[in-house]
This record gives sequence, C-alpha cells and structure tokens, in this order.
Amino acid sequence: MATNRFLFLAVAIVALIGGTQSANILGLFPSLSTSHLIIQMSAAKVLAERGHNVTVVTVLKPVVTHKSINEIIVPLTKEEAQQMSDTIKEMSRSDNSNMVLSMLRMSGQMDFMFKKMAEALKDDRVRDLYLNKGNKFDLVLSGYFMNDFQLGFARKVNAPVIIVATMPPNQMLNPFIGNPLELSYVPSMDDSVEKGKGMSFRQRMSTLVASLSFRVLTHIFDRNNRNLYKELFADDPNMPELSEMVKNTSMVFFASHALSEGPIRPNVPAAIEIGGIQVKDKPDPLPQNMADFLGNATDGAILLSLGSNVKGSHIRPDTVTKMFNVLSKLKQRVIWKWEDLEKTPGQSDNILYSKWLPQDDILAHPKIKLFINHAGKGGITEAQYHGKPMLSLPVFGDQPGNAEGMVKKGFGLTQSLLTLEEQPFQEAIQEILTNPKYAQKVATFSSLYRDRPMSSRELVVYWSEYVIRHHGAAHLQSPLVHMNFIAANNLDLYALIAVILVIVLLLFKAVVKYLYKRFVSKSKKASKQKQH
Ligand SMILES: *[C@@H]1O[C@H](CO)[C@@H](O)[C@H](O)[C@H]1NC(C)=O
Ligand SMILES: *[C@@H]1O[C@H](CO)[C@@H](O)[C@H](O)[C@H]1NC(C)=O
Ligand SMILES: *[C@@H]1O[C@H](CO)[C@@H](O)[C@H](O)[C@H]1NC(C)=O
Repeated sequence: MATNRFLFLAVAIVALIGGTQSANILGLFPSLSTSHLIIQMSAAKVLAERGHNVTVVTVLKPVVTHKSINEIIVPLTKEEAQQMSDTIKEMSRSDNSNMVLSMLRMSGQMDFMFKKMAEALKDDRVRDLYLNKGNKFDLVLSGYFMNDFQLGFARKVNAPVIIVATMPPNQMLNPFIGNPLELSYVPSMDDSVEKGKGMSFRQRMSTLVASLSFRVLTHIFDRNNRNLYKELFADDPNMPELSEMVKNTSMVFFASHALSEGPIRPNVPAAIEIGGIQVKDKPDPLPQNMADFLGNATDGAILLSLGSNVKGSHIRPDTVTKMFNVLSKLKQRVIWKWEDLEKTPGQSDNILYSKWLPQDDILAHPKIKLFINHAGKGGITEAQYHGKPMLSLPVFGDQPGNAEGMVKKGFGLTQSLLTLEEQPFQEAIQEILTNPKYAQKVATFSSLYRDRPMSSRELVVYWSEYVIRHHGAAHLQSPLVHMNFIAANNLDLYALIAVILVIVLLLFKAVVKYLYKRFVSKSKKASKQKQH
C-alpha cells in the first residue's frame, strides 16, 4: 500500500517535470529596426516567462527583455550608429510615398543592413553557439528582415526553425510555408476591398502590378542572401543549398490578426497570427508625474510620439515650431516624446516633454483622446488595441501605407510630416477630437481585436512547444513549398487543354471540309449533270 502510494507520487512528479521541461531556445534577431526588435523580443519574453532557457542574438540593445534571457549583443560602432541615424534623418525629409520606389532608393542602406546582420552571426560569441558542442538548442526563432541567409544557423545547431515576422502574410513570407498568394482577391499590403464586394478589375490590376514590381525587388534580396549564406557557412561543405533551408521552415509567426484587420484570406496551418504580441494584457502603472499630468487633464489628453527611429531633431525646425504653435494653444494636455530636454520646442503648461515613454501604458489611459504618431506598425497596433483615434504623420518605408490603411478604416486622419502647416494640422486635431466617428470606429475594432480563442501569448507558447515536441512540423507542410509557379497555378495543364482544343478544332474543320467536298459538291455536280 505504502509502496503503491510512493510509486504513484514518483510517477506524478516525473510527469510534472516532463510536462514543463525547459527547452533551449535561440532567437536570432539582428534587425536594425527597433520596432521589429520589440515584436521579436516580445515573443522571446513570453517563452522566457514560461520557464524556457532563451538566448538571443541582437545588434540593437533590446527595450523589451526578461531577466532570464541570455543576451548576446553585437553592437554597431559609434560611427555606424551615427550613419544609421543620418540616413533615417535624410529619409524622413524626402518623399517616400511609393513603397517599392523608396525601398529601391534605400537599397544602399539595405546593403549596410545586410552586412551588419551577417556580421552579427560571424561574431565569436555567436559562432560559439554551434561550435561549442556543449550547446544544444531545441528551437530557433529567426527574426525576419529579408535575411533568409541566417536560416543556415538552424542547420548548424540542428534545430527546427520558426520565423518571427513583423508583418502580415505577404509575398515575401508566404513561400517559406507555401501560403497561397491569391492575387485575385487578396489585395496588396494595407489596401482594402469594400465590404460585400469582390475585387474590381482596377484593384486586381494594381495588385498584380504591385506584386510584379515586388518580385523584381525580391530578386535583389535573393541574390544578397545567397551570397551571404555562402560566405557565412563557407567552411562547411555539408551545408545544403539555401533554397533547401528555406523549405525547412516549420512555421511563421505573423504580426497580424486577419479576423479584425483583414484582409480575409486563406492561411495554411503553419501560418500563425500573433498580432499584438507586444501589447500588455494589463497596463503597468504610469510614472507618478505622468499619472498626475493625465489624471488632472479635465479636457482629455493627446499623446505625440514619432517613433523610436525618428528623433525630434530629425524633423525640420520650422515644422517643430508649427506643431508647437498648434499644440500649445489646445485646452487638452499633451505628452510629447522629445529626446533633448535641454532644447525643447517651447514651454507651455499643457505640454509635458519626455525622453522616454511607456507608450502602451499611456495609450491605455482613459484620458487619452488622440494619438499623433508616425504610422509605425507597432504604434498603430497599440492604438487600435486600446481603441484610440489617430493622426498619422508618416515619414518613410511602410509608414505612408500604414497611415493610408488606418485612414481607410476610419480610425483617424493623415498628413505628410514634410508639408505640415499650422492650419491643416490644427483642423485635423479638432476634427478627430470633436467628431465622434473616429473614436467609435476604432473602439469597435478594438473589441474585435481582443476577441480571440487564444491570446497571442498563448499562441506563441503553444506552437513553439508544439514544434519542439514534434522536432519540426514537416507533417503540416503545404506541398506548394515544392512547386514552381507553373505547376502551382496549373498553367501547364491549361496549356495542354488549349493545345488539345486547338487540335480538335483543326481536326473538326478538316473533317467538315472533307465531308463538304465529298458530299455537298458531289451532289451539286450530280444535279448539274442531271440538268444537262
Ligand atoms: C541556457 O542556454 C545557454 C546557451 O546554450 C547555455 O549556455 C546555458 O547553460 C543554458 N542554461 C541552462 C540553465 O540550461
Ligand atoms: C530540416 O529540419 C529537420 C527538423 O529540424 C531536420 O531534422 C532536417 O535535417 C532539416 N533538413 C535540412 C535539409 O536541413
Ligand atoms: C494633480 O492634482 C493633484 C490633486 O488632485 C495635485 O496634488 C497635483 O499636484 C496635480 N498635478 C499636476 C501636475 O497638476
């Protein structure tokens, strides 16, 4: 009896330990974009909180982190950081409303980013992760920034890989898991189709053209990737082709939530949408000065933040003055993210400058009535989560597109930061503060966005552990991964049918001609002969 009970206890303990066993997880997040790193680190943090042993490789110092995460930071030199900052400054002053064109213009910058991301993987501490046989990894999280070459790392540590993307499913990411592109009814990024309607001829045409120009662009990235892959893993003759590594991706975590954001589209089982992973379920308390400032804001308050990449000093001084002139005259209180507290745009009782902002926690505050931002995906996501209307002042990259999408959904207005003038800026702010339609639309969205069977955090834990348990997810791979464009679209079959149809038609024509000659012209001849 006693031994039985002891046995039962022992089994229970073993089962318990087995169930919550900690895995070794490696996150490769060398992106030079702070907002990308925030999303990727948020996923890593969830796994660390769950008790897994998470190691991350980054170039930037992560803002989101956890005490048990081992960080390997391969930083930029001072000059390189300055160069990055200068480029962002330059881009924020030139017109970048066309995404493909601005990405092409950024291609010099892209070369620099590719080089730095590859260099991070060459660092001795990073190479040691696979050279030192004492290290064992059960899963690699590969932070996506057009850096397919780093998938070779998963092979090196012999672990399955999940890509952590900072975008919704799209042309660049779909091929990893054979997610269908569906150009005829899934519009290109941040465009939308009217409810209850299909895509018009014009919409389909513009989606197709966008897709083709993107293909040109990805060709350039593909070449970069193949070169860097060869360079990084040149010392190992057993490395498979990069295209083989791409096909071995177990899953992609997308930073989107189609049920609320759209577009409604089919996804393969390996596509997991974890949109909003960076948003806290419950806000942390605000620093005392901000809590007081907002708490006493009887007419409501506005949050102004132009993101982590664009610093206040990047904006033209006269633009800053115009913004200050408008904001300082409002009865609402304003929290303005501003780096250089020695040189603020001006003093006003209703404005609180702060170098650092707990943006998510501030947006959760009920007094916030408007969020003025630069249309970064992260900021828009947080505002949508908390149901706050927006005025977006996009700068470059995907921002103009994000802003347009936000306006189309009715969550606010947008104006170019480059051509900002006092009067339209003031009118836009008043319109959003006084017309309730923006706040209502975004509040409705917010309730849809939060309504999910599993939260983003639960999804990250479940599917990461799923891939660890099954040593990859080969069983749910779409066959599309192994098919070329012609086969994937049945173009060869259509061509075959067309050829058969043509042959049948030609045969039919020949037979008709023959029969006509044989009988009709004969009978004509016969009748002619009869008349004689
Ligand atoms: C966590 O992983 C790192 C990297 O492989 C390793 O050096 C460390 O010993 C691990 N820690 C634990 C507690 O297993
Ligand atoms: C693909 O991933 C699986 C699971 O991690 C691994 O066993 C296999 O060797 C990988 N294949 C290639 C070509 O790297
Ligand atoms: C806000 O109001 C409280 C009292 O309700 C007061 O103690 C505090 O000083 C006020 N803070 C600001 C920044 O006005």
